[in-house]
Order: sequence, then structure tokens, then C-alpha cells
Amino acid sequence: MNSALHVYIEDLYNHEGERVTIKGWLYSKRSSGKIAFLIVRDGTGLVQGVLIKGQTDDTALGAYDKVTQESSLIVTGTVRKEPRSVGGYELSIDGIEIVRVAEPYPIAPKEHGTAFLMDQRHLWLRSSRQHAIMRVRAELIRQARAFFDDRGFTLIDAPIFTPSACEGTTTLFETDYFGEKAYLTQSGQLYEEAACMAFGKVYCFGPTFRAERSKTRRHLIEFWMIEPEVAYATLDDVMNLAEAFVEHLVQSALANRRKELELLERDIAKLEKIKAPFPRLSYDEAAERLKTLSPEFKYGSDFGGTDESLLTEQFDKPFFVHRFPATIKAFYMKPDPQNPKLSLSADLLAPEGYGEIIGGGQREDQLDPLLKQLETHGLKRADFEWYLDLRRFGSVPHGGFGLGIERALAWICGLPHVRETIPFPRMLYRLRP
Ligand code: 4AD
Ligand code: MG
Repeated sequence: MNSALHVYIEDLYNHEGERVTIKGWLYSKRSSGKIAFLIVRDGTGLVQGVLIKGQTDDTALGAYDKVTQESSLIVTGTVRKEPRSVGGYELSIDGIEIVRVAEPYPIAPKEHGTAFLMDQRHLWLRSSRQHAIMRVRAELIRQARAFFDDRGFTLIDAPIFTPSACEGTTTLFETDYFGEKAYLTQSGQLYEEAACMAFGKVYCFGPTFRAERSKTRRHLIEFWMIEPEVAYATLDDVMNLAEAFVEHLVQSALANRRKELELLERDIAKLEKIKAPFPRLSYDEAAERLKTLSPEFKYGSDFGGTDESLLTEQFDKPFFVHRFPATIKAFYMKPDPQNPKLSLSADLLAPEGYGEIIGGGQREDQLDPLLKQLETHGLKRADFEWYLDLRRFGSVPHGGFGLGIERALAWICGLPHVRETIPFPRMLYRLRP
């Protein structure tokens, strides 16, 4: 077998009529009569190879007989356009080099239970559905960064080890930091507040952690959050930015990952509608709607998962709920000057039952009210002295938000659960693989 140019499956369209080599793994094989088919994957796509008994080289046919599902192999053949084949191209195979024969593969093309698949996550990632989700995820992350980079934001990443809570003390992961207590970060926000006073417009993007004892389809213990923060921004500025950002994410997923969304059977028409402006409801207006939708809902409390789902079914676009009661929001929220019982906060809820994908708002920018709020929330002032300095040295109104990549991805891909939105999910009862 003489060598041919190594190409990736996604580039086959550039090589029609040429003899090429594909390096990958066996996805599946089947034969009928004189013809044998194999489907090879290489991480960029799938391609069908064809061998014909009596015509194809015997060594290749022998190798065909030996390869099992997920065996690694290098195949050589001539590229033909074939619209009926997966990916639209086919290879007339003249050589198969087996790299390693795989043991019987635990994931068969049949249906498996979720618990089994989660245990096999390291292998499950090879399946076409998981592959598609991860490709959309990578695109969302690329576009999230591009959105802020292109608008003059500076990337200022926040630390993972922190001395204090940002989002309440009940969901902190404690760890020993050379004899001192430290926590895995719940949010980079407080550090972005410092950074925006230095750079004007900043963002961070990294893993965040919540020791949340909730076992729902929206909760991960470890998730990735992108958090912009802007000096001189008001609550309205924050909502305008979040709106443009989410429109950008959805429209770029449609433009650049349509094939993957189609494989996931996402209703594309629903995503095409995701264009600014998004509706904006005050908490009071949302609570009024919930009165009839959800009899259990009590004014003044936070929305539960069911409340959020019921609300989102009334819209075909994401929508903001703003000015939540101050008592249910974090210590850093600025009270609404019109009604100090409310906070200048805003969540963005995704339609089709998905619910909150963004939380944010305008921050308390004055020292004395912030000191009081720390006390009300039972937080130790000593841990926040550096943060209080931001109110002592040139404080200005400012605000920002955080978008959880996994929840956004679950909605954009139309997935029933966040467990498939991150390569290796960390959940209440799942630390492995
Ligand atoms: O609403 P949250 O808690 O807000 C913050 O952390 C702010 N400090 C952000 C900021 O203003 N810079 O979280 C923000 C987003 C949520 O809307 C959700 O998308 C995601 O983070 N999120 C989670 N995603 C998966 N699993 C969890 N347990 C999550 N908790 C929050
Ligand atoms: Mg929130």
C-alpha cells in the first residue's frame, strides 16, 4: 500500500477524486453480499468506506474482518461524492492499517440507561450526539470570548481559591489552604468589580463551584461562567449588554454549528427568533402572572424551577425579570432608589421551560450601605476589606452579569438536562469519571 495525503473527514470536499488517508476509529461496519461498508470517525466527522470482494485488495479485506467497533485504524482510498452517504462523501477503500484492535466495546448502538452512560462518559463522548453537543459548546465559548474581546473588554481572570463567599455561605466548598480556610470560587464577580475600576470594561471566564445539594436538571456542582463587569453601567446598561450577548451566542451557533444542531434535532425556527429586544418584566409583574399560573408561589420568594418553567412558556424569546426583592438577592445588590425593598437585579430566563441562564445587576457602590448589607447577610467584614476599598477610592456606579455556559448550551441545543453539556459533569452524586 503506497501512502496518500492524510486529510480530515471534514475537509474531504476539497479532495474529490483524490486518493487520501484517514486516521481514526471504526464507528461501525456491515456487509451485504460482495460489498462491505465501514464507517470511520476521526473527530471531525464520519465517512463511509466501501470494499468490494474480488476487487479490493485481500489484505484490506482481511483487516476489515478483524476490526471491531472503536478499533483504531488508518484507511486509504479514493474520495467520491455520494450525497446518500453520511457526510456526503464516500471512500473506495484500497488499504486498511489496523493500529489497535479494540476489546468488545461497552456502548452499543442500542439504547442505554443514563446512569450507565454517565459511568462511561469517557467513552460516551465519542458518540455522534455527544460530539455534536461538545462542538456547539466550543463554539459558544469561542463566541462568548469574541463578543467581549471585540467590544473592547479586557479579559481579567479571577482566582479559584477565595477567602470568602460571593453568592451566600450555604453553597461554599471548603478546602484547607495551608492551615487557613479557603473556598472554591462561586463567582469571579467581586474581582471583576476591582478590575473594572482599573480597565473600565472587563470579563472573566472560568469554572465556578457551588456545593448545592440540588439534584435538578439545571444544577451542576462545577460549571463555567462568563462574567462581564462595566464601570459606570446602570441596570439598564447591564440588560442591554446581556441581550446583545445572548442574541450573538444563538445567532453564531446557528451560523457556524447548524449541522450539529440539526443532528440534535433542535427546532431551528425557534432559535431564529432569538433577536433583541427581549421582553423586560419587573419581579412584581412576573409575580402577578405567577398568581394564576402557580398557586404555591408566594410573593417575595425566589422563583422555583417550576415557577420559572411556567413563566417561560409564555414567551418565545428569553426575557428579563428585574428588581427582585432585596431579601432574596446577594449582599452586593444596589437597592432600587424608587423602592429600597427591591434590588437593581436582573435575571434572564430562557424560553421553552429552560429558565434562568443569566443573573446580574447593578452593584452597591457606596460604603455605608454595603457595610450594612454585609452585616445583614452574616458576612465577616475583615474578609471584604479589599472589596470595601473599591468604595473608598473613586467609587462609581457599575454592574455586570454572569452567564452559565452549560445552561445556555442546554437551551440552545434543546437538551433535557445539563449533565450532557459539560465534558465531565460534577453533580451531587457524581465525581467519576
Ligand atoms: O445567578 P448567579 O448565582 O449569579 C452570580 O454568580 C453573579 N455573581 C454573576 C455576576 O453578576 N457576575 O449565577 C449566574 C449564572 C446563572 O444564571 C446560571 O446560568 C449559572 O450561573 N449557574 C449555574 N449553572 C449550573 N449549575 C449551577 N449550580 C448554577 N448556578 C448558577
Ligand atoms: Mg441567579
